Formats: sequence, structure tokens, C-alpha cells
Amino acid sequence: MPNARRGPHDLFAWAQSQRGRIAERGWIAALVLGPLAAVTWLVSLPPAPVAVPTAPPVRVAVRVTPSDATHLALAEALALDVWSENFGPGSPIDLVVHDGDLPRLEAAGLQPEILVPDIDAVARDEAARIAQAEIHRPADWYGEFRDFTAITARLEDLAARYPERVSMSAIGGSIEGRPLWALRIGGTAPDATPMLVNGAQHAREWIAAMVTTCVADRLVREYDDNPAIRDFVDHTELWVVPVVNPDGYQYSWSSDRYWRKNRRGGHGVDLNRNFAVAFGGAGSSSAKRSEIYRGEYAFSEPESQAIRDLVRRESIALHVDFHSYGQLVLYPWNYTAAPAKHRDRFAALGDRIASAIFAEHGTGYTLKAGAQLYAAAGTLSDWMYGEAGATSFTIELRPKGGSGFVLPPEQIRPTCDEGLAAVLALGSATPSD
Ligand code: ARG
Ligand code: ZN
Repeated sequence: MPNARRGPHDLFAWAQSQRGRIAERGWIAALVLGPLAAVTWLVSLPPAPVAVPTAPPVRVAVRVTPSDATHLALAEALALDVWSENFGPGSPIDLVVHDGDLPRLEAAGLQPEILVPDIDAVARDEAARIAQAEIHRPADWYGEFRDFTAITARLEDLAARYPERVSMSAIGGSIEGRPLWALRIGGTAPDATPMLVNGAQHAREWIAAMVTTCVADRLVREYDDNPAIRDFVDHTELWVVPVVNPDGYQYSWSSDRYWRKNRRGGHGVDLNRNFAVAFGGAGSSSAKRSEIYRGEYAFSEPESQAIRDLVRRESIALHVDFHSYGQLVLYPWNYTAAPAKHRDRFAALGDRIASAIFAEHGTGYTLKAGAQLYAAAGTLSDWMYGEAGATSFTIELRPKGGSGFVLPPEQIRPTCDEGLAAVLALGSATPSD
């Protein structure tokens, strides 16, 4: 990817505007504070230094491998944001830092590998590309990322075209009043297994919303032509919630591409820390500004409540929670390193899922218990397993690292193939597997 740092022209324009602002402030200050400043000048030497305009910091995504607790603490102290799944000494972690802090990481021997030289430039490029796609509409709906309004229209269209196979309803509403749309697909056999597939608890993980929508779409449209799909749809009562966090999702489109949480109070709550198994434990925070802020209490958020109520009402037995990124298939526990009682079954099923994904495009997804990477308390997946008794996986979609949350649109289709393969593989599991 080209190094998209601020060009010299931009920098010049920026310095000019800063100088203008400083001059303006100086003028007001001279009028209002002139006499006072004169006195201060005389009594308190040395005088305050003159403000020199400096370039605004560039936000860089880097991958580092802290080898000990000191390294980890430095990485954590400099991190504006933590992007990756891995977090612990000895494993690589992806962080966002100011470019000015890179020398400190280097000096400490952390050898930062640059993943994205300027994450805000990448977001601007993506926005420009999407604006172009609005004009030259790609023939394939999955040829570009879609906002919540477009996803809603797509779901409505699917439900209207195939009423015998799919129905659409709202399972709740967001804080800002957006519906949490669910599709109910298939399940004609009397012994059909209730399954939930959801995406986009985290706003910036756009590929998860696209893949979840695409999985529903393909199960419905390819039913007649694909025996594996027909078998799955007949024997599964599938609930699909493509966007669990519509407020955050829309905010990541309109205002901040890297927004993760919902929009509670402007600071937001991490929905995937708001569930009731191990709520409040390690890998969640009580600080509102934290990216892993868990909320006031378990199920304090209407979005997590809606999922809880659906799961109870429908006695969901199988579950996939789609996220990005990292190419991982994760099973409980997420909150503790202690092995889950059904660990062996999870590992066997997870292996089948990862193999089915690999068979699509040769993409490697790594299988692990969530807490093998880092502890995350209050996740949906742990609640699905620990409280609702479901067989639940968290799947981190593409990419493995690289561009992080901003993915080329050409990867939507192949990532959807991988998501569908995972859902079909889990659906074919019998209780004895
Ligand atoms: N990316 C998800 C989150 O941070 C995954 C949670 C489970 N992963 C884990 N390492 N325990 O919410
Ligand atoms: Zn996530």
C-alpha cells in the first residue's frame, strides 16, 4: 500500500491556517489580556514560549511482539487503540500509535512493523471509493460495502421475494431507535435445530455485516440449486441478525470509521462485554472511554437484551458470532484460560469449521479457545455457551493483519464463501459430534 502521509502541499495549507488561528487568538488576547499580560511578563520570567505550528500527528497501525511485561506496558501506554485479537507477552499485537511515538517503540526494542502508515488516509480513500460506487453502481451488490439503510433494503427485498422461505422482523431496537433486524430462514423439518448467526456487534467490522447478510441471501437464493444448502435450510431453524449494533455501524459510516462500541451516552458500550457470564471480569473495563467498556451492568444495553430475549425464546442451540479481523475460529471460554467442559467437542467441531473454510479459497483460519489469545469477560459467545447451553463460536474474518478493518471490496465475496462454509459445517454437527 502506498505511504499515504500528508503531502507537502497539505502541510503548507495546514500551517497557514494554524498561523491564521494563532494570529486571531493573539489579537483577542492582546485586547483582553494585554494589561494583565504585561504585568505577568514583568514578574514571571522566563516568558511562555511562542507556539510553533507542528503537523498534526499521523495515526499509524503497527504490529509489535512484546517479549515481557515491560514491553507490554510500554505498548499499552502508547496505544491509542488496540486492534488485534492477540494480547499478551510473546504474541504479536496490533496497535494504533501516533507516528511521533514510533521512535520510542524502536528504542525499547519492540521493532514495530508498519501495517497501515496512516489509518485516517486509508479511511478517506475508502470513503472516496464508496462515493464513486454510488455513481457507477457495481453490478454486484456485494461488490462494495453497504451502510445500514442499504442492508435493511436488501433484507426487505429478500423477504419480499421468498416469503415461503424467509421472514423478517425486528427483535428489538437500538438506543437511537433503529430496528435490530432478524431474518428467520427455513426450519421446515419438525426436528429442525435452532441456530443464530449474527454480525457487527462491533461497528467498524464492516465485513461481518456484509458476510452475515450474504450468508442469509445465499441460503435463501441457492436453496433450489444447491443440495447442501437445501439440506441445511430444511434442518435448521436459522435466525440471522446481520447488524447487532446499528447505531455504532451507522456512526462508523458517518463520523468515525474506527468506532467499535454502541453509542450509549456518546461514549458507547462494548456490547461484547455486556453479557452476563463473567460480567466485569478480566479483559473488560469500567471506564466509559475504554474501547472495552462493559456498561453499568450486564444487559444494560437494548442491543444485548434483544439478543438475549431471542436466544431464550427460540432455545438457540448453535451459534456463530462474526467479527473481524484475524482469521480465527474461537470457542469458549473467552473469559478464562480454564478449559471448557466441552473443550474436546469444540476443538473437533472447530477443526471441521476451519477445514471447510480452507476448502473454499485456501485461506487459513486458526482454531483456539478465545482466552488462549487474551481474556475477554462478558462476551456473547460465553453467555451463549455458559447460560443458554448453545454450541457457540466467534469467527474473526479476513484479513489476517494487513489492512485491519478496511478491506478491499473484492474480498467481500470470497469472505462470504468462507462464512457460509463455516455456518454449513456447524449446521451439519450432530449433538454427538
Ligand atoms: N474480537 C472480539 C472481542 O474482542 C473477540 C472476543 C473473544 N476473543 C478472545 N480473545 N477472548 O470482543
Ligand atoms: Zn469484534
